[in-house]
Amino acid sequence: MSKGLFITFEGIDGCGKTTQIKLLKEYFEKQNKTVLLTREPGAKGLGEKLREILLNYNGEVSSNCESFLFLADRAQHIDTIIKPAIERGEIVLCDRHTDSTIAYQGYGRGVDIEEITMLNNIATGNTKPDITFIFDIDIDTSMSRVGKEKDRMESAGIEFFKRVREGYLCIAKSEPDRVKLINGNDSIEHIHSQILDIITSK
Ligand code: ADP
Ligand code: TYD
Repeated sequence: MSKGLFITFEGIDGCGKTTQIKLLKEYFEKQNKTVLLTREPGAKGLGEKLREILLNYNGEVSSNCESFLFLADRAQHIDTIIKPAIERGEIVLCDRHTDSTIAYQGYGRGVDIEEITMLNNIATGNTKPDITFIFDIDIDTSMSRVGKEKDRMESAGIEFFKRVREGYLCIAKSEPDRVKLINGNDSIEHIHSQILDIITSK
């Protein structure tokens, strides 16, 4: 069975994931590769319903409940969309995955990181990204890029986002083989070329 490539993109809101994923998709498609562009939370189907709750529900949501909803979305996503695409030999570009739960619910909300890691492994059946890019930007840049219209997660406040950013920096330090830390303040073109250098040297 041919095996594709699984690449995830991470960082605080507005760090430039969507922009870079689009450029990388175009790069692979020029080489006639089949690319699946997907995201968490809420790729399609049931995931879209979970996304609606996670980003727009107005009432109280406990941190554990929030973690389980992201993990439920991930389990469905990996089983019905990501794994089949990897098995078909496609290149999967995924906007957010396991590291988001560690950074946002773990470092941000204070849920136990070891427990989230264990639950991530259950949700993914231990399928791991081949490469993860984390784009690091400061909180002011994040806030100005996100703009005034904020969803439930984006409204969590500056202190929350500082913890999430620190969380991402810890993840990058602890898994240097898989996780590549990129300065998200660099120009769009420069970031794209750094990504290509990393992918082609893998
Ligand atoms: P994300 O998907 O991580 O939320 P986006 O790619 O949607 O981020 O980018 C958020 C905003 O920041 C967009 O307006 C985008 O054009 C802009 N942007 C993205 N990357 C850069 C960059 N390297 N420098 C300046 N602005 C950027
Ligand atoms: P989204 O609109 O996709 O934001 P972005 O364009 O920045 O990726 O919203 C997803 C939000 O959900 C974002 O604020 C990060 C958050 N999130 C978590 O808190 N935990 C998770 O496990 C995932 C996948 C996302």
